[in-house]
Amino acid sequence: MQEPAYTRTAVVLHWLIAFCVIAQIALGLWMIGIPKDPPGVRAWWFNIHKSIGLTLGLLILVRVGWRFTHRAPPLPASMPRWARIAAAANHHLLYLCMVLMPVSGFLGSSFTKYPIVYFGNKLPYWGWDAPELKDLCSVVHLSTASLLIGLITLHIAAALKHRFVDRDGILRRMWAWRRPVT
Ligand code: HEM
Ligand code: HEM
Repeated sequence: MQEPAYTRTAVVLHWLIAFCVIAQIALGLWMIGIPKDPPGVRAWWFNIHKSIGLTLGLLILVRVGWRFTHRAPPLPASMPRWARIAAAANHHLLYLCMVLMPVSGFLGSSFTKYPIVYFGNKLPYWGWDAPELKDLCSVVHLSTASLLIGLITLHIAAALKHRFVDRDGILRRMWAWRRPVT
């Protein structure tokens, strides 16, 4: 009998977004240390971060929409109640952070006097120069990033525990969408 597993769409979206989010966090943390002199270098990397972030935001939107219309496969009966609750909390918070990151980044970048440049193309400028709103969005962006890093660390630690300690096939559910018949 085939054990329940995530579908091909869920697996592809999970790994594509997981890879891009981790890369985007690393890029964000690195780019804020780029000196303002010589001019242009810092702005170039900021624009790359914004462009990737907006693309990622759209992908996350697709994933959330898809998830709202599809159920997760049932967890193995052997999994204790506390672990089910912890997994559900971790997944919900991961989704929340994945939505908050691009939204706070986009809003923060809209409350400056510069238009957002998306892979070389200026996006329509709808915002206005509001330093206090920009700062608020930056605080949300930074604190959500810290929360996200903590959640991802826990998430990976849990996946490794399932794989090497519990050996209950949880990692395989998100690894291969066609399971061998056992
Ligand atoms: C999933 C998407 C995103 C992730 C994971 C992400 C992650 C990060 C991280 C880790 C930092 C460095 C810490 C910080 O200062 O906040 C950062 C900074 C920044 N990000 Fe993002 N970001 C994302 C999307 C965006 C988007 C869509 C924009 C704008 C359109 C954006 C604009 C910025 C800016 C301007 C900064 C510099 C700090 C600031 O002014 O707030 N980010 N981002
Ligand atoms: C090496 C890194 C990662 C590993 C090994 C991993 C592993 C997994 C596994 C095995 C599941 C399925 C859990 C289950 O069967 O109930 C899962 C689900 C999930 N993962 Fe990851 N993951 C990784 C990175 C990430 C990252 C970076 C994010 C978010 C930024 C993320 C977000 C999620 C979410 C939201 C779910 C719940 C899926 C749903 O039911 O809709 N994962 N992950």
